Amino acid sequence: MQVSFNPSLEIDRVLRETALSVPSIGPDFDPGVRPADPRFGDFQANGVLGYAKRKGINPRELGEALLHALQASDKLDPKQIEMTLSGPGFLNFRLSGEFLWQWLLEHAGKEDFRAGATSLRKGRTIVIDYPSANTAKQAHIGHIRPMVIGEAIARLLDFCGAKTIRDNHIGDWGTNFGTLIMKIKRDGINLEQISENPLAALDNLYKAGSALEQEQPELREQSRSELVSLQNGDPENTALWEQIVDISTRAFDALFAQLGVRVDHTLGESFYRDKVDRIYDELTETGLAEESDGALVVWHDEVKKFSRDNERPYPFNIRKKDGASNYATTDLATILYRVEEFKAEEVVYLTDARQQDHFEQLFLTTKKWFAAKNYPVPQMNHVWWGTILGPDKKPFKTKSGETIKLQALLDEACQRAYIVVTAKNPELEEEERRQIARTVGIGALKYADLSSNRTQDYVFDWDRMLSFEGNTAPYLLYAVARINSIFRKTGIDPDAAIEGASPLETEAEQTLARKLMGLPNALELTLHDLRPHFLCTYLHELAGAYSSFYNADKVMVEETDVRARRLLLCARARTVLITGLELLGIDPLERM
Ligand code: ARG
Repeated sequence: MQVSFNPSLEIDRVLRETALSVPSIGPDFDPGVRPADPRFGDFQANGVLGYAKRKGINPRELGEALLHALQASDKLDPKQIEMTLSGPGFLNFRLSGEFLWQWLLEHAGKEDFRAGATSLRKGRTIVIDYPSANTAKQAHIGHIRPMVIGEAIARLLDFCGAKTIRDNHIGDWGTNFGTLIMKIKRDGINLEQISENPLAALDNLYKAGSALEQEQPELREQSRSELVSLQNGDPENTALWEQIVDISTRAFDALFAQLGVRVDHTLGESFYRDKVDRIYDELTETGLAEESDGALVVWHDEVKKFSRDNERPYPFNIRKKDGASNYATTDLATILYRVEEFKAEEVVYLTDARQQDHFEQLFLTTKKWFAAKNYPVPQMNHVWWGTILGPDKKPFKTKSGETIKLQALLDEACQRAYIVVTAKNPELEEEERRQIARTVGIGALKYADLSSNRTQDYVFDWDRMLSFEGNTAPYLLYAVARINSIFRKTGIDPDAAIEGASPLETEAEQTLARKLMGLPNALELTLHDLRPHFLCTYLHELAGAYSSFYNADKVMVEETDVRARRLLLCARARTVLITGLELLGIDPLERM
């Protein structure tokens, strides 16, 4: 018997094939196979119900007809996959213990999982737009989200066979540069000699510059003209701008290194400044854009909120009244570039919820424009998220009401984790405790962010994220460390083949095996919506099943076949947990 990595896909395929031989079912039938409530089986096909309703036939009868056709064909071995009908027409599939065992034997290591998962996004070229922060401003707590969620999604897509290109679309061409340059020149500042935290210094210079503009409005004119001369390529301002971008890049690179963020390209807004004329031309020529009060805009009348006759009309503004390009223009140029140069078939953008309208308008415009020009239209996704809240349910701030700097947050995470790790392992050397604490601290921050459904706000809670209990990084890291210690004690390599094991027997073994086999579905679910919390929930449940198994069934028993089988389960749980943690961007620990 050969079992596929994702048995539910196999069942789905067989059901579609079999349905063709049932007279009352047409080729538009979708079996809708998904993991089942364990009381009914491993998988359930619940597509019959909706299909029968649409066609006006009795669902139960349709289900029976399909089940009979399935039993008559020999496509699924009834000894390995038990098939039953329940309720108004649900088809249930329960895998035998032998099937589960075979799955465990065939899908042993991370590379087997990867091989199995690659079918999900095989060979698809996907550009992922993250972390894409704005230049010349220090990263704050909110910036952790694009870094962490973006990295996890990129890793996941890579693992599932995509060719990902991580493109950091920084905001390096904003109006803030006018103010900054004005202030720098006014104070005669040498950017090479500013403080040990040059990005913080730039932040302060900008704030001081804005305050000055408030006091002396005539300075606004000066800032504006600095901006215009920068945009016109003035060498002095260009040199200053380059220095500013450079300072910013270095600061962000340091954060990326701590957070394990990998960026392939940094093509920010400035990169597209000479590519915007083509946008105006093509959008005008195709009749999509029109002048309105001197600006160039695109209306989407089919969407109420973007239509002309909305109470507060707001079109997609692609060129400002003063003729300057804006965020929308550069984004249009960017998507064209990604399709033409990177051959992107899909583009995933990561930002907070506030930019939903922008991306909706960008996607609508791109679809129409590309269709008119016969360019291949990529799939476009906006992955957005809510706010990180403090205990008072308001955006999380410092006690004095300021935004929390990302570096300070990372430092605090490591410091707090150090206390927790020290309490647990007072006997370890300080250096080792510090190292473990870095992984635990950063891992806890990341996991707290990833494990909450991204479209909901979440409350930031140090104690909860650093707890060894619950759906947390320390809980999962500790589960791996505990399995590692079993293998260390026995002197067996957990990655080596384990021979002489007998098939699954006990309840706890079977439950754990079933959970392990849930990996493909967890990956699929996570990918489908690009919501990493699905993978987190799965890993948390797996660690729970492992722990129940470990408490119920002694591993190091006398009978060598039973011991081998249980060690094999330990090894698989370890591999799946490690694979999952790595996909989330969390480094597993040998011990903790
Ligand atoms: N720089 C923007 C910000 O900080 C995010 C850019 C997102 N990417 C894009 N292609 N618009 O809000």
